[in-house]
Amino acid sequence: MILVTGSAGFIGANFVLDWFAQGEESVISLDKLTYAGNLENLASLKGDPRHIFVRGDIGDAELVGQLLRQYCPRAIINFAAESHVDRSIHGPEDFIRTNIVGTFHLLEAVRAYWSGLADAEKDGFRFLHVSTDEVYGSLAKDEPAFSETHRYEPNSPYSASKAASDHLVRAYHHTYGLPVLTTNCSNNYGPYHFPEKLIPLMIVNALAGKPLPVYGDGQQIRDWLYVKDHCSAIRCVLAKGRLGEVYNIGGWNEKANLDIVHTVCTLLDELRPRTDSKSYREQIVFVTDRPGHDRRYAIDARKIERELGWKPAETFDTGIRKTVRWYLDNQGWVGNVQSGSYRQWVEKNYAGRG
Ligand code: NAD
Ligand code: TYD
Repeated sequence: MILVTGSAGFIGANFVLDWFAQGEESVISLDKLTYAGNLENLASLKGDPRHIFVRGDIGDAELVGQLLRQYCPRAIINFAAESHVDRSIHGPEDFIRTNIVGTFHLLEAVRAYWSGLADAEKDGFRFLHVSTDEVYGSLAKDEPAFSETHRYEPNSPYSASKAASDHLVRAYHHTYGLPVLTTNCSNNYGPYHFPEKLIPLMIVNALAGKPLPVYGDGQQIRDWLYVKDHCSAIRCVLAKGRLGEVYNIGGWNEKANLDIVHTVCTLLDELRPRTDSKSYREQIVFVTDRPGHDRRYAIDARKIERELGWKPAETFDTGIRKTVRWYLDNQGWVGNVQSGSYRQWVEKNYAGRG
């Protein structure tokens, strides 16, 4: 079996659901269930004996050690993190606690378990750390996309904390020989995406008749990947990745934020037109920019394609259509995640942006 951390969040949940769609190997899920963790994402696995869910913190080395000894997983996929840049600007401490200190405690527990394994199990064991392209910093318009050897230049408390965790993972390989793999992926989108992030926020606000807040001039560029393609890339790195290596994952889909918002509006105009027949674009408002806002991210995904034969299956056009349809078909899920704490966050982040 494998141990998946952060499995009740956006990408972790998609990963676990896709894992069972591909095979029979069991999964232990470890998730703290922060505001971003939602067991409803895994509801279809209720009663499935292949899936064991444990609520807990990756920073609780005792709990992690106990789970490792009890279930003897052959691999760990570490998704658990605080993941939202704007939240890291308002309050960096949770990011330091989970992304840096939590990853450190997780690595310590894994190292203790792995050192005690018999040689054959030791060789087959994998610790796959899921990271982000944001650790590489911001690109100018004409600079080449991030390769795996691009220097680390994180600019937000979020990306700095992820960069620190990447360095720890690397050090545990070089110092202790822990069999690690690291993936750095671009912006994901798709089902179960918490509506504090750009694409789901725009869909949810549009349908609710609320403003669509575009930061600054909306010309910041992100490189978008459909979440299921990220999951297939991780399965591929887990199966075939070379130990200690880093693999960048991306969709070759660079888009300006304003173009993303326009695309979402166009799809909603087609699939769920406003009752007054006007376009959802009427709801776009330009608001004060994010402090330290990175201008452009772009991933050079040639290494994973060349070495492991992975390529994304979705184009942006097919992926964004599936995503908008998923939100239209899952309004109950949207309603349930919009709890009191969600509303407080929206007030805090958008108040005073003008
Ligand atoms: P998310 O915020 O939706 O989910 C994070 C999950 O981790 C939640 O279920 C939360 O409860 C859990 N968690 C948080 N702190 C924990 C702790 N201390 N112990 C155990 N569980 C904890 O995030 P996501 O978008 O699914 O991202 C998953 C991973 O992928 C993160 O490491 C993130 O940095 C990385 N990543 C995300 C993107 C993206 O576009 N979303 C892109 C590249 C990389
Ligand atoms: P986000 O989804 O928070 O991802 P990240 O900051 O990790 O790339 O934001 C994606 C882009 O969208 C980013 O450039 C910030 C911008 N953005 C807005 O313009 N308005 C919003 O309300 C949000 C949440 C993001």
